[in-house]
Amino acid sequence: MLSAVERKIEQFVADLDDKEVTKLYAKLPYGKRLRAKLILKIAGNSLPVVKTAAVVEMIHAASLLHDDVIDDAGTRRSKPSLNALYGNKTAIMLGDILYSKGFFELNNISADVSRIVSNAVTQLSLGELKDVSLSKSFNLDKNIYLEMIYQKTASLIEASAGAAAILAGKPKDVYMTYGRNLGLAFQMIDDLLDITSDAETLGKPALHDFVEGKTTLPYIYLYEVLNEDEKKILASLHAKVLNEDEQKWIVLKMKEHQIIQRSYFEAKELIDEAIDLMETHGEAALSDIAKEMIERDF
Ligand code: IPE
Ligand code: IPE
Ligand code: MG
Ligand code: MG
Ligand code: MG
Repeated sequence: MLSAVERKIEQFVADLDDKEVTKLYAKLPYGKRLRAKLILKIAGNSLPVVKTAAVVEMIHAASLLHDDVIDDAGTRRSKPSLNALYGNKTAIMLGDILYSKGFFELNNISADVSRIVSNAVTQLSLGELKDVSLSKSFNLDKNIYLEMIYQKTASLIEASAGAAAILAGKPKDVYMTYGRNLGLAFQMIDDLLDITSDAETLGKPALHDFVEGKTTLPYIYLYEVLNEDEKKILASLHAKVLNEDEQKWIVLKMKEHQIIQRSYFEAKELIDEAIDLMETHGEAALSDIAKEMIERDF
């Protein structure tokens, strides 16, 4: 029933009755719709559920519009990003329009759903701000990284699961725990793919995080195991455009120390916990979403 969600988003955008916005929105390629799938799997496809899924995907799209400005990203979902096509000002404003229309529509669903989703968006924004601040120095604190990814990514996935549980009359806390684990693992995998995948597969630039100053989990782990000279080299490459040799050196050192496996294992543990939780609640379809997520390559 994802198509019902697509139609609802189109309707919300059409409500704005603005030709430019309709044209710009049509330029945004579809994503994986992970958050919408999650909501439908938990709560079915009644009108409030479809509306909630549509709002969450609009909010998510808004966050990506802003994120690509923040991260200077020229590609998104395998196409030129909106900021690359029309500039930062247009991308920021379309983001604001999608956010605010999403909030407006939340009010027509239920106060509980509205509260949980809007609170997550505050968390997401706080997380994006933290991500920017952290990228100004070489962050080596894993707990700070985990808190930041919880805020910027896991909070909206946790809230999606929680909102769906509210609508379905299922135990909210159980589904929020599932969503939180899924969201943390999701961002960890995203950060891993930035290193292991290529731009074509990803549909967005590869090895871009470190250039942007982001010391994601693999960089934190790598730094821990390097010798003093190598630590200096890695720190000197932080937040710089890397040449081919420098890129190769980082990838080689990660291989040498099995950093990717170690980071993947951390995400896998969270996913396994989420799967166990869903299996005890008889939600096989939700364990499948978790499995697909850990196996994805984009
Ligand atoms: C991208 O999210 C941003 C992160 C939280 C890593 P998705 O990977 O869900 O983006 P789309 O919607 O499928 O493009
Ligand atoms: C997640 O972080 C973005 C949001 C939560 C909006 P990233 O900056 O890693 O996402 P990608 O890699 O650009 O999709
Ligand atoms: Mg980004
Ligand atoms: Mg970002
Ligand atoms: Mg990323």
